[in-house]
Amino acid sequence: MKILVVGGGGREHALAWKLAQGPRVEKVYCAPGNAGIAGQAECVAVGAEDIGGQVALARDKAVDLVVVGPEAPLTLGLADRMAEAGIRVCGASAPAARIEGSKGFAKDLMKKYGIPTAGYAVFEEYGPAAEYIRSRPAPIVVKADGLAAGKGVLICPTTRDAVEALDQIMKARAFGSAGDRVVVEDCLVGEEASFLVFTDGRTIKPMPTSQDHKAIYDGDQGPNTGGMGAYSPAPVVTADLHDEIMERIMRPTIEAMAAEGCPYKGVLYAGLMIGENGPQVLEFNARFGDPECQPLLMRLKTDLAEIFEAIIEGRLSDVEVEWDERAALCLVLASGGYPGGYEKGRVISGLDQAGRVEDVMVFHAGTAERDGRIVTSGGRVLGVTALGPDVGQAIDRAYTAAEMISWPDMYYRRDIGRKALRRLGV
Ligand code: AMP
Ligand code: GLY
Repeated sequence: MKILVVGGGGREHALAWKLAQGPRVEKVYCAPGNAGIAGQAECVAVGAEDIGGQVALARDKAVDLVVVGPEAPLTLGLADRMAEAGIRVCGASAPAARIEGSKGFAKDLMKKYGIPTAGYAVFEEYGPAAEYIRSRPAPIVVKADGLAAGKGVLICPTTRDAVEALDQIMKARAFGSAGDRVVVEDCLVGEEASFLVFTDGRTIKPMPTSQDHKAIYDGDQGPNTGGMGAYSPAPVVTADLHDEIMERIMRPTIEAMAAEGCPYKGVLYAGLMIGENGPQVLEFNARFGDPECQPLLMRLKTDLAEIFEAIIEGRLSDVEVEWDERAALCLVLASGGYPGGYEKGRVISGLDQAGRVEDVMVFHAGTAERDGRIVTSGGRVLGVTALGPDVGQAIDRAYTAAEMISWPDMYYRRDIGRKALRRLGV
């Protein structure tokens, strides 16, 4: 079996690594890939959003399965184009990917079907949006409707900040056409968790719980990033909460998508706020999270290709998805300056030594090969991911391995996983 993984970040490295272990897999391609993925897959220089190029590549290499990592190609219709070309693909269709690609669509869906989420309103014009902001108590959240690489959400402590955020999105057009519409939303408080499921549109198989660390600095301070680390399981989601999330959020959402004529197949990710009023949805993503994917796939025991094929064929109920009981944690090593500007091309040392630490995988994100050496080429550079008998030991292993790696300006948070330790009373 030949597989093409679309994308080139840490999530796609984890996908390629896991898929390559499948007993029936003879070859994995990844486009565009990165320097680390090249260890498990043949990387081909086709951009993730080059829809025609990806379809041509899948055809050319006669792949049996395409797996799409990032959201942008899904919203652009990559899964639809692959399917039209007769290529088997696991990834949400463009109509289904609107659950991530349009925050207004997701909010309206949740409202219509009674799925718990913050109060909100959607606007296409500045005047009424500003008026609404002034009518609501601060803090308040202003979001660009479309995809903005995780940057289009502004948490505004005061009404004035919120009007400035609206100016940025609708007048200065900081996120381009993603800001043609805005969602203004009540601010939720609590602890965040990520809840991901596999679904073929009918059967839902939840993955273990996980938690991301979005802010750049320790203690969840500073601007949001794509994610600075993640671990699984997340003790904030108790067994009761797990059942509640399945019954009040995941199942109704998947049923709602079918009822709306855009059945959802693939990986569905709910970003949740666990607060006093129980779990509420902050956002949906039409894909694996990055970095949540890395610890989750370290824990997955079942052949991932088998799961994806079952999703495509609508027989997920036949597959027993098994998970390692151990905890896993991914620590992201980033370029200094990220999520703002940063230098690229720094030579990374210590990769081999770190990769030899027991139960550790060093997943690559923004890396490239230059003159036989691995150099930095992005904001999030590596995801050092460790399994441990408990989250405390996974933390120790990941940090031990990370300390072996270096380049000038390398930055990472020192407190990944600490919230779990606090909850567990460690
Ligand atoms: P989103 O991309 O919608 O998940 O937003 C990114 C991040 O912004 C979330 O992970 C939360 O940390 C924060 N956020 C989004 N919506 C809200 C909200 N209504 N209340 C508080 N924080 C929010
Ligand atoms: N880790 C957050 C995301 O993938 O959207």
